[in-house]
Amino acid sequence: MLINASGLLHKCDEPKPVQAVRAEDSSPAVPSVSVDQDEEKLPVSNAHGSTGSTDSGGAFAAFQSLVASLAPKVDRDEVAAMIKAEMENIVVPTRTVVERLIGDRKIIANSHEKLADVTTDLLSGEHVLMVGPAGTGKSTIAEQAAESLGLPYFSISLSPMTPASQILGYMQAEGEYVRSLFREAYEHGGVFHFDEFDNGHPSVLAVINASLANAQMAFPDQMVKRHDDFRCVASANTYGRGPDRAYVGRQQIDAATLDRFSIETIGVDESLEYSLCMASGLGKDEVLRVLDYVRNLRANAEQRAMTVVISPRASVGMCRLLAAGKTWEAAVESRMRRGMSDKDWGKLCANY
Ligand SMILES: Nc1ncnc2c1ncn2[C@@H]1O[C@H](COP(=O)(O)OP(=O)(O)OP(=O)(O)O)[C@@H](O)[C@H]1O
Ligand SMILES: [Mg+2]
Repeated sequence: MLINASGLLHKCDEPKPVQAVRAEDSSPAVPSVSVDQDEEKLPVSNAHGSTGSTDSGGAFAAFQSLVASLAPKVDRDEVAAMIKAEMENIVVPTRTVVERLIGDRKIIANSHEKLADVTTDLLSGEHVLMVGPAGTGKSTIAEQAAESLGLPYFSISLSPMTPASQILGYMQAEGEYVRSLFREAYEHGGVFHFDEFDNGHPSVLAVINASLANAQMAFPDQMVKRHDDFRCVASANTYGRGPDRAYVGRQQIDAATLDRFSIETIGVDESLEYSLCMASGLGKDEVLRVLDYVRNLRANAEQRAMTVVISPRASVGMCRLLAAGKTWEAAVESRMRRGMSDKDWGKLCANY
């Protein structure tokens, strides 16, 4: 019989007392065991009370290498090239967002890339002259700019025959004043658009100039004060320096009138053109074929200073005709060639 130092009877199987208690853990009720021994020799208790060992570590490594061998090999450069190629196929037209001071926002999807510039000019109090080839979307920009600003929109198209009375209004024989759209915008505010500005008669442009130069103006019935929210936006195919090869009938615009406007150049927005073509209902591959064709001819016309205008109206028109079942040749004849001589047509189609 063996007696312990404490004087109690010794039992041979008695477990040894716990050796280390975590210093920060002073509660004997929930002891926490810190194990310093070599992991390779002793089992280690995990959070769920199960045990792990050298064997499980090896199995995990084997599992990892198995997963690695099963995963497809990824070549970073190859993936980057694939993403780049896909991105090049994505054509997204500009989405113009106007944040208004009163807290709401106006979003115009499918807008021309220049809508934001024109809207900003108008917002700053400037009048704007948009200059660009036919069919690039100038009139649409004017309308959308008014919408963006939350102002009423008015528009008239000028020609050499447009009389001043269409701007100022006129007095009837009985002495009653007939108001014009311009008077409405001038007096109560709004965006007034003069389409084909460089096609107007010089005497009418002089009236417009006077209306922009002064804060008030004489209408046939009375003097009228210009509203703070009156803005003028004009569109033209030339910069007002007179006719050119493509736009032969255009007027030279007086320098003082031109000086009243900020000028924005409006070119073909190819993303918008693509989107308008897609809206024709023609399949994507055919739309891309039309755009490739039209843009090559457009570049040729420009390089060779030809007088033809190949606007987005031509590409959209071609897509519409093809979607309606016309043959490629018939669509080309109707929308592109349009009676052009063999010589000019050959020049336009060179290298295509
Ligand atoms: N953002 C747009 N969204 C939808 N359709 C558009 C847009 N911009 C232009 N279009 C369409 O494209 C065509 C040409 O546009 P628009 O009349 O505005 O061009 P323009 O530059 O004023 O032409 P022009 O010089 O002949 O007066 C129109 O049929 C118009 O409806
Ligand atoms: Mg127009």
